Order: sequence, then C-alpha cells, then structure tokens
Amino acid sequence: MHTFLPIAYFEDHFIPFAEAKLSVATHALHYGTAAFGGLRGIPDPENPRHILLFRLDRHCQRLSNSAKFLHYDISAAKIEQIITDFVRKNQPKSSFYIRPLVYSSGLGIAPRLHNIEKDFLVYGLEMGDYLAADGVSCRLSSWHRQEDRSFPLRGKISAAYITSALAKTEAVESGFDEAILMNSQGKVCEATGMNIFMVRHGQLITPGPEQDILEGITRESILSLAQDLGLSTVQRSIDKSELLIADEVFLSGTAAKITPVKRIESFVLPTERPITQQLKTALTAITENRNPQYAHWVNTISLD
Ligand SMILES: Cc1ncc(COP(=O)(O)O)c(C=O)c1O
Repeated sequence: MHTFLPIAYFEDHFIPFAEAKLSVATHALHYGTAAFGGLRGIPDPENPRHILLFRLDRHCQRLSNSAKFLHYDISAAKIEQIITDFVRKNQPKSSFYIRPLVYSSGLGIAPRLHNIEKDFLVYGLEMGDYLAADGVSCRLSSWHRQEDRSFPLRGKISAAYITSALAKTEAVESGFDEAILMNSQGKVCEATGMNIFMVRHGQLITPGPEQDILEGITRESILSLAQDLGLSTVQRSIDKSELLIADEVFLSGTAAKITPVKRIESFVLPTERPITQQLKTALTAITENRNPQYAHWVNTISLD
C-alpha cells in the first residue's frame, strides 16, 4: 500500500487527501479522457528544509500540452504554481512522487471533448525505487505501442496506459519484471512507463521521437548529459535483434530513473555496464543538485 501525502489539490482547493473524492459518473473514469504528469521530489541532502524538483518547467509544459488534446486550456505557469504550493503544504520529509492530473470532470455519457467540464488535481505519495535499482529482466511484449495516427502520443494521455497495464501484467505473470513494447512497425519503442536506451560499440542509441515513444524528460536529459560527457549518441530506430545482443540496455524515466536491464527474454546482457553506470552517477548528482553546471535543471522549494 502507498503512503499518500496528507494534502491534495482538488477542485481549486488544498484539502486532506482522504476527502478528495470523485463521482462515479466522472467522464474521465469511463472514457480515459485525462492526462497526467509525474515528478519526483527529494529533500536536498544538504538541507532537508529544501525540496528539489527535477525539471519542473518541462513537466509542467508537457502536462499543459497534454491538456490541449483534451481541449483544456491550462498554462504551464499555473500548473507550476499549484505544484509549488502543493509541496509547501505537504512539508515532505522523504523522497516522494507528485501526480498532477488534468481530466474531464463533468458527469455525462458520450465520449467527447467539447461541452464537458475539465479540472486539474494534484496528489502525492512517498516513493523509493520504482524498479529494482540493480537491474530488471524484460519480456518482449505481445502488445504493441499505439500509433500517433490513432492516438496523440505527444500527450501523456491516461487512456494509453491500458496498453502499458496489459504489457506489464503479461510480463510479470510470465516471470519477468518489466515489458519492452515494439511500435507498429515492429521496432523497439519503450517500456511500460520508461524510455529505452542501448549501447553498442560505445555508442548510446535510443529510438527517436518518430518511433511513437513518449517524449520522456529523463530521456531528453540523458541525451544532453551524454553529449556533454563526450559520448557518441544517436536517435534512430532499433531492431529487436540489435537489442538482444546489445552491450548495455537501460530504461529511463522519472519513476525508474536509470534502471539497467539484466536480461531480455532468454538473452542475458553483460554485467559490466560502464556507460549506464557513468550516466547514472552523473544523473543522480544532478538531481541532488551537486553539479552546478546543471543547477538550472533543478527547482529548489523552501519549506520555511
Ligand atoms: C510510457 C512512458 N514512457 C516514458 C516515460 C518516461 O518519461 P519521463 O522521463 O518524462 O518520466 C514515461 C513516464 O512518464 C511513460 O509513462
């Protein structure tokens, strides 16, 4: 069971989490007409009265853009202000996860986006490691990622996560930790809530945005970090057979951070992972605000 943060933002107010309740007729519940974000917050190791949020501006911009697909106009600045207030109200003491959601809040039958009210809520929960930090086994899913022509993949739309849920359960029920989904072209796409990277011949490779991935903020950060570290990087389509014999594979995401992949189906990957390790160490230092070069990626919220 999760430990939820005590205060939620709901229907324009900060109220106790337990009192934030929706009607059974809520449109988003029936039609998946919602979109969400997900951010991690950690107390600053140097000063626990300061909370560090990684790339808050990017997360708020992505959610504001997702809301456009729901025909809901909410600015990134407004989301950012509410999240900042949310953190101050909750006074978190350990590492946590913030879940903002835009959703069609009206009560009514018929899938549509016009003539239905929308709203915005935020809640949070304590969160340590989402996946085992030392690495995971992955199944190649029988479920494929949606295509942009049938689904707005640039948005983090709630309805899309039925595919992630199917893939994750299929993987876990067959003895794996996580699933890797192919796109409709049969190329490697991403995991159920993470982007994917592989290393071959010293080069860091990840599927490009045209491969129907979610444009992950961790992914984007890793690409610029790798370039700054002098690593060779490329965004291109990845075949299944390349992935299975890669030198290193890892998953990236807000929840998963950088999680190494130990095995894909019956293909065991090397245990030496120098590039994954280098990126993981560098990214951890950045999220803990220990690298002044990337201080602009970290928002500090004072609890005083
Ligand atoms: C399907 C999917 N892909 C990738 C990611 C990684 O994105 P980010 O790094 O912005 O958390 C997520 C998590 O939000 C996700 O749900």
